Amino acid sequence: MSIRYIEDTRQLLLETDSTCYQMKIDNLGYLQHLYYGLKIGENDLNYPYRLYDHGFSGNPYDMRDNRAYSLDALPQEYTSFGVGDFRVSSIAASCSDGSRCAEFRYESHEIRSGKYAIPGLPSVYDNGDTVDTLVVTLIDTAANIRIRLYYGVFEELDIITRSAEISNAGQETVWLRKASSMCLDLPFGGWDLIHFHGRHCMERQFERTPLFHGIQTVSSGRGMSSHQHNPFVILCSHDATEDDGFCYGMMLMYSGNYKIEIERDQFDSTRVVMGVSDDRFRWELSPGTSFHTPEIILTCADGLTRLSHRYHRVIRNNVIRGQYKLGSRPVLINSWEAVYFEQRQDKILSLARQAKDLGIDLFVVDDGWFKNRNDDNAGLGDWVPDERKLPDGLDGLIGKINEMGMRFGLWVEPEMVNEDSELYRMHPDWALTAPNRAPMMARNQLVLDLSRDEVHEYIYHTMAELLTRYHIEYIKWDFNRPLSDVYSHSTPSPRQGEVAHRYYLSLYRLYERLTSEFPDVLFEGCAGGGGRFDAGMLHYTPQIWCSDNTDPIARLSIQYGTSFGYPLSSISAHVSASPNHQTGRVTPISTRATVAMTGAFGYELDLDKLSEEDRADIRAQIVRYKELETLLHEGLYYRLSAPTGDSDCVVWQIVSPERDRCLLSIVVTDPPANSVPMHVQLKGLDPDALYDVGGEFTCYGRALMHAGYTFLQLTGDYPAMQVDIKKLGT
Ligand code: GLA
Repeated sequence: MSIRYIEDTRQLLLETDSTCYQMKIDNLGYLQHLYYGLKIGENDLNYPYRLYDHGFSGNPYDMRDNRAYSLDALPQEYTSFGVGDFRVSSIAASCSDGSRCAEFRYESHEIRSGKYAIPGLPSVYDNGDTVDTLVVTLIDTAANIRIRLYYGVFEELDIITRSAEISNAGQETVWLRKASSMCLDLPFGGWDLIHFHGRHCMERQFERTPLFHGIQTVSSGRGMSSHQHNPFVILCSHDATEDDGFCYGMMLMYSGNYKIEIERDQFDSTRVVMGVSDDRFRWELSPGTSFHTPEIILTCADGLTRLSHRYHRVIRNNVIRGQYKLGSRPVLINSWEAVYFEQRQDKILSLARQAKDLGIDLFVVDDGWFKNRNDDNAGLGDWVPDERKLPDGLDGLIGKINEMGMRFGLWVEPEMVNEDSELYRMHPDWALTAPNRAPMMARNQLVLDLSRDEVHEYIYHTMAELLTRYHIEYIKWDFNRPLSDVYSHSTPSPRQGEVAHRYYLSLYRLYERLTSEFPDVLFEGCAGGGGRFDAGMLHYTPQIWCSDNTDPIARLSIQYGTSFGYPLSSISAHVSASPNHQTGRVTPISTRATVAMTGAFGYELDLDKLSEEDRADIRAQIVRYKELETLLHEGLYYRLSAPTGDSDCVVWQIVSPERDRCLLSIVVTDPPANSVPMHVQLKGLDPDALYDVGGEFTCYGRALMHAGYTFLQLTGDYPAMQVDIKKLGT
């Protein structure tokens, strides 16, 4: 069992192969956090914070004679509220008597084998691994609130998951104002915060700052996990690098409004509280009901690379589901950047013929295929094919593409509606809009109120009908605006604070229904590029369109940031036209392919405009990608240089789990005036094995890792190179 209870000291010990998490039920029944880090055995840690007067931090009533004991200083597993812990709280509520305090003490615990599930929410699942669950129940008998803290311990994966269930154990309604998934107190250490900020077309930019005293927040109130801030943070020691230095990873498996609060307090300890955002949140907890919080995926490791490898493994094996999770993905061509809204049958078929000839597997018809969709002002909501653009109907088009020997995929944006649509004219109240107020418009569209059952059913039936009626093997599910004016016309006014979260409960249920009913369809997530790139969505969509920015040089930093938490197989990336449509940058097709291959690979450009040379290159790229796909998706990813800073080139490496194959990729971002040699030390190879390096020379793994590999920098417009490194023997 990876979870143990030590009776004498009332400690609870969670152990994975290399990490350990400890807590203790103290004499007053508070659930203290003792430790999370590399394995230390079962020592009962006697931290000195219980031994000195904490000044203006008060003491629980039972400890009024002991000024050393303060909830304001005690590391805890989940906080009380309103009773003297003045740091960021994990929960807030108002009770029927108007009081806004609760003090949670231990009631019981249970250890069981297997992984808990979270009703209505995506969570990490047991994939035949050794997984145990700890449930610790806390209660406040005055407020009658019971909290169950869930811990999932994935032994071999070095992953611990957390979630909380908050229940009303009394007879009166309680209004939840905040319900976080976890509190993690780190009593000692100075930490840097790494987070991934951005904007549309520039998602998940790496940023690292030392924590200051006070509260730092990483959050989204946009009704989507957002382009602006990914729900994933890393705390690492100031000296942490890719290879060394201690790092904690904290990832929220949720796609809606969230908040991660990181507080460095007066005693230099650090608290992280994360979960559904409490902004505009208010949840009616009637007697006997529970609120379940989304999952947190935790790990800790020496070095950022090891931390990323753990996330890649758990997301690939225990988050993503379905037949595409590990298997090969089709190389696709998406029609968006080739024709935009002009999705006409003759042009599509011409592109499809070219695509087939080049070796592409699947053709995706993007936005513009349905009635009145000639620009982004109309049509969303009415998912009926436009007969003017598709004279043989969608059926006819798919038939012709299938006859060519290619599979067919379709773009949809089912959560949205245009005012100019039949759906909106019939059901204006199905959109999220506040009474007596003109709503914010974005891309001329409104968001459907998925918290309503009839809206959920409408979307479900529309999608199920499309997937039943037509031979569609891939869906790109888009989401092109944030949620604003969040008001449901079918929810009583005191409960409007539930709508944003109910939206996601309904969306997840919708995805669950559709993915289980149509298990052969590959669903790709998208939200104006990577605006909803999170572990919640990855539970339903094995890959997500990483960014609307397809410029390979811009993609270097986008994909670099994304790689800290998410596996390459989840990062959808396409070779597009040059000059690039977003940035105007000119790049060679080999560079575009080198970058796009570091993901779920595809194309998105007008194939009718290709030169013979490009055509030959694309043919070769597809053959090469197919040969490399297993390595690219199952290999261990090493970031050898960052796209930020003063490096002239970005270098990364992918090594097979058996260490018998390695792909080194180099993109020159700032070509030097004269070719100068560059030097990189490779990682992750077998030190004793002899490798063939790009067919040029042979070298032992230890030499490539310590002495390094030297290459002449290429000059020109952002050139790239890939070096195949193959094991010959030991
Ligand atoms: C979003 C997507 C694009 C494309 C357009 C279509 O921006 O990210 O890839 O599908 O919508 O409107």
